[in-house]
Amino acid sequence: MRQYKVICHMATSLDGKVEGNYLETPSAEYFGQEYENIHQKYKPKAWICGRVTFEKHFTNGEQVDLSNYSNADVSREDFIADKNAAAFAIAIDPSGKLGWNRSSISEEEYEERPDQHIITVLSENVSNPYLEHLRAIGVSYIFAGKTDRLDLKLALDKISRYFNITEFMLEGGGYINGSFLSAGLVDELSLILVPMVEGTNNAVSLFEYGDNPFRPEVEFTLEKVEQLENSGLWLRYRLKN
Ligand SMILES: NC(=O)c1ccc[n+]([C@@H]2O[C@H](COP(=O)([O-])OP(=O)(O)OC[C@H]3O[C@@H](n4cnc5c(N)ncnc54)[C@H](OP(=O)(O)O)[C@@H]3O)[C@@H](O)[C@H]2O)c1
Repeated sequence: MRQYKVICHMATSLDGKVEGNYLETPSAEYFGQEYENIHQKYKPKAWICGRVTFEKHFTNGEQVDLSNYSNADVSREDFIADKNAAAFAIAIDPSGKLGWNRSSISEEEYEERPDQHIITVLSENVSNPYLEHLRAIGVSYIFAGKTDRLDLKLALDKISRYFNITEFMLEGGGYINGSFLSAGLVDELSLILVPMVEGTNNAVSLFEYGDNPFRPEVEFTLEKVEQLENSGLWLRYRLKN
């Protein structure tokens, strides 16, 4: 029995896309704000995103200079830099690609979510210099497997225990959502339906699986529907047992 709950909170177009041109239109602006308002209603202590989402919205593809740490030799033990932070931003970054240069999300980069301590989930394959860099800047890290395909349950079990977290918000993108759903780790879905159509084939959908098989019998039960302004809907589903 898990000691924590995972709520997947996302906004999609009518054709199920979580990214694309529709989000750049003036009509979509309201839904971006509503996404954040609803996030805040859950009063979450922790939210999770995949490596691509953090790279796109937070580290902007930056790479860190690791030349000072070329001789580092770091054991593969989890590193807890700030156990008592008020809230946590959790990145799933198996290869250690994210160029963090700070230990928390600042108010300047995300006004509504200031001072959220960064926890990154890694595979044991990451380099010693990268680990030494994370220690130096005070980013917490957790190991959840030896290869790039991480054991997400192990990751959440550890994080829940180390940081005393009983509820996680899973906030995209589509591939990380698909990985959590496939691993049986999504308990609830909080879905903002934006009444627009993206229309492009290559835009990421709500749940993506790549080449990995998926249990087709996953079903949700509708708990509540709320009408939003501008013809949007907020749908709340619970995973059917
Ligand atoms: N509409 C919304 O509500 C919303 C919310 C959040 C994000 N988004 C959008 O979603 C898009 C990004 O989505 P995305 O699906 O391309 O990327 P993503 O889910 O953010 O990140 C995917 C990456 O996470 C890692 N990953 C996924 N499953 C894993 C597993 N089982 N084990 C280990 N690592 C795993 C892999 O990293 P590596 O490649 O490093 O192996 C993978 O490439 C962006 O455009 C973003 O703006 C939309």
